[in-house]
Amino acid sequence: MVDVAIDVNGRATWATVEARTLLVHYLREVLGLTGTNIGCDTSSCGACTVLLDGESVKSCTVLAAQADGHAVTTIEGLAAGDELHPMQAAFREHHGLQCGYCTPGMVMAAVSLATERGELSEEAVREGLEGNLCRCTGYQNIVAAVIAGSAAMQGAGGPAVAPVDGAGAGAG
Ligand code: FES
Ligand code: FES
Repeated sequence: MVDVAIDVNGRATWATVEARTLLVHYLREVLGLTGTNIGCDTSSCGACTVLLDGESVKSCTVLAAQADGHAVTTIEGLAAGDELHPMQAAFREHHGLQCGYCTPGMVMAAVSLATERGELSEEAVREGLEGNLCRCTGYQNIVAAVIAGSAAMQGAGGPAVAPVDGAGAGAG
């Protein structure tokens, strides 16, 4: 067993977990943050994408112990209260989802890409999100949403990831 302490969406969390516990299981099962989905067992779908110190990672490929002492942002931490993050708003406006299963991972990967690269071209979106799979949409609306969301993020001028209010929430 290992002790982990991870900042998740601006809140301190901690728990004692098995050393083999994956970050995605820590988020979903220890913290109850089920917005991060599991879509495969081959590290190929991207449904589990979160930000680790601002960089997108597939949380099924990271041990919770590896995130000890680091900051994680999940889809639950993206909106500022009732105000959707610009990328979330763009997905809604452009109908960038159908069943929605891939959407949290898509949005997190898109936020990371737009934070890193600024306003995105169609080619940049298709290349940058090739690690995120969608079984429903045919991608066209997702691509349109990410292009619009990346532009809106530049216009917003604020932090790519909104801070979350609230006190620490221990998990163990
Ligand atoms: Fe992590 Fe599919 S669940 S890549
Ligand atoms: Fe259904 Fe992408 S909207 S998997």
